[in-house]
Amino acid sequence: MKILEIKNLYKSFGKTGVLHGVNFSMEEGEVVSIIGASGSGKTTLLRCINFLERADSGQVLLDGQVLFDAENQGRLTGKELRKKQLNFGLVFQDFNLFPQYNVLDNVMLAPRLLAKERPDFKANRKAIFSEIEETARGLLNRVGLGDKLTNYPCELSGGQKQRVSIARALALKPRILFFDEPTSALDPELTGEILKVIRKLAEEHITMVIVTHEIDFASNVSDKVIFMADGIVVEEGPPSQVIDHPQNERTRSFLQKLNEK
Ligand SMILES: Nc1ncnc2c1ncn2[C@@H]1O[C@H](COP(=O)(O)OP(=O)(O)OP(=O)(O)O)[C@@H](O)[C@H]1O
Ligand SMILES: [Mg+2]
Repeated sequence: MKILEIKNLYKSFGKTGVLHGVNFSMEEGEVVSIIGASGSGKTTLLRCINFLERADSGQVLLDGQVLFDAENQGRLTGKELRKKQLNFGLVFQDFNLFPQYNVLDNVMLAPRLLAKERPDFKANRKAIFSEIEETARGLLNRVGLGDKLTNYPCELSGGQKQRVSIARALALKPRILFFDEPTSALDPELTGEILKVIRKLAEEHITMVIVTHEIDFASNVSDKVIFMADGIVVEEGPPSQVIDHPQNERTRSFLQKLNEK
């Protein structure tokens, strides 16, 4: 069964139409890359799927169940919305870490807040918090930051900040992890370390959607590549098709322009 299905998503900001009926789906454990020119709606699409923007029409299905339907979202309470949001993790281009917390606390903050809503929290506070800490330490080790636990974001390189933000997203055990150009704010020499972490997650079969301009990386790591232009999916398929043998003229011209850069 498909883990994620996006059906006919439309989104406008005022009179500006941005998404014009986006459709795609993916299987559990797959890595899907989304490529496309600046302004084609990639970030808006991720924000709609992650409930940071509200699509004007269309649906998002998780495991075949409707998670979002533009027709009847008005009735959701904040708590219901948060519960839905928790299915997904989002890693932003500019890290979005909390500057006032150290690395370990950045990763533990959201799981701790959530734990407080558990009915058994009062009785098991200590055990729950120590489990959260153990998970956070494990994740930070996994992204190679085991020696930076007590450092603050301002003391880290861009690549290290981005790795904290990946660990933080994983700490909530999302079904699907979304990345919005995770390397575009980084110097080229720091890009590699992030791509390495993402590749490792792919090997562990974490389901991921990655918006990226790193075409070689997308080609290498993805099961499926989606090319977006002007708010629709123009072409999708395995990288051997979309990147190596694009069928659509617009995909061809986008890739050609990238090559010329
Ligand atoms: N909150 C907003 N209000 C008004 N217009 C917006 C808003 N967010 C995005 N847009 C517009 O929607 C269009 C698509 O933007 P979006 O950020 O989704 O593109 P993108 O494909 O992610 O581009 P990039 O590759 O540069 O990140 C742009 O024309 C942008 O100006
Ligand atoms: Mg964007």
